Amino acid sequence: MADCTDPSGVPFAEIDPAILRTRRTSLKWTRYPADVLPLFVAEMDFTLAPVIQRALVERVQASDTGYLDGPGPLAPAFADFARDRWGWEVPHDRVHLATDVATGIVEALRVARPAGGRIALPTPVYPSFFEMLEEVPFEIVQIPLAQSPSAPPPGARLDLAAIERSFAEEPGIDAFLLCNPHNPHGLAHAAEDLAELARLAAQYDVFVISDEIHAPLTHRETVFTPFAPLAAAAGALAVVTTSASKGWNLAGVKCSVVVAADERANAVLAKLPPETVTRTSILGLHAGVAAFTEARDWLDLAIAQIEANDRLLASLVAERLPGVRHARPQAGYLAWLDFRDAGLGEHPHARILAEARVALGDGAHFGESGAGHVRLNLACAPETIREAVDRIAAILPGDASEEGAR
Ligand SMILES: Cc1ncc(COP(=O)(O)O)c(C=O)c1O
Repeated sequence: MADCTDPSGVPFAEIDPAILRTRRTSLKWTRYPADVLPLFVAEMDFTLAPVIQRALVERVQASDTGYLDGPGPLAPAFADFARDRWGWEVPHDRVHLATDVATGIVEALRVARPAGGRIALPTPVYPSFFEMLEEVPFEIVQIPLAQSPSAPPPGARLDLAAIERSFAEEPGIDAFLLCNPHNPHGLAHAAEDLAELARLAAQYDVFVISDEIHAPLTHRETVFTPFAPLAAAAGALAVVTTSASKGWNLAGVKCSVVVAADERANAVLAKLPPETVTRTSILGLHAGVAAFTEARDWLDLAIAQIEANDRLLASLVAERLPGVRHARPQAGYLAWLDFRDAGLGEHPHARILAEARVALGDGAHFGESGAGHVRLNLACAPETIREAVDRIAAILPGDASEEGAR
């Protein structure tokens, strides 16, 4: 990839937000007025991989736009990808379809824990989890991630002691929603932490859903550990929900997989309503097949660009945003920024939106420990990141923008 193009070879100048706003209609581009730089939602600015574009156009040209009857070619496509990238052997008959990862989580909980109950999740975490769990419904128990300066960046890890306490104490926990890698920190959980979680889940009969949607975007120096093999080895009841929607920016075409960790979990997933399959998009399925099989080079270029953007943001934060702490992701394209000591008050998200005209994820929506933080999207042209930092620097007290301005 030339330094000045996105992973599809499109010049960065052509993915300038002012241009994308005239071309795209997703919520990233419609939620805020035109003067707001939108870096809040997890969508990429990068151009869709050409092989995925072709796969979608071919299906449309063949008028192949009816209902699905099962995962078909997506099961081997995903299984091959999981084996090649992570060494995880996935029997094809353990792959089930759902409209999207959110639906996969809700439907898997409905069949695994039909009586509902209490669900634990590490926080701060992807805000939509709270909304999804209202659909089931479950009582949510937040277990803050442990801040661990000794852990590799992003400096946080599962608080296994607190997790064990929640499992052991009355009234106990029925299900655990793991985000692996964890959104918003981009934390790829350590294998030993996941193995211990699997052991605890088996011991206390806790059903685990591991949301691995960001896993394809694991950065090159990080090893991603899929949860399912560890769960199977420990005898924990677990499923993995994932899709190509983050790795290849396919959220709008609606197709995800729910993968059983072992035969016991597969028997649970066999109870998924058949409607779960017919509600999944045939276009999404074919886009996913193209992604997992033919768009791996594109993925690698996207990861390299995200890593470069992360380095750029780290240097800009150090130079231009005094008091801000940046949790460097090991996976994915989300940067979690701690503004509690930056002088913007208790609601930095609101100040940055109103005064700097940059829309970021509001940390307060990520759970009890997210207040004072914001989440910034790195899957864009480097210039977009520079522009965001320029705008934010200009509203910080003791404005550092004068000396740093280009
Ligand atoms: C951890 C996580 N899970 C699920 C989703 C949503 O996935 P989907 O659009 O497939 O429901 C997101 C979106 O950003 C996410 O970050």
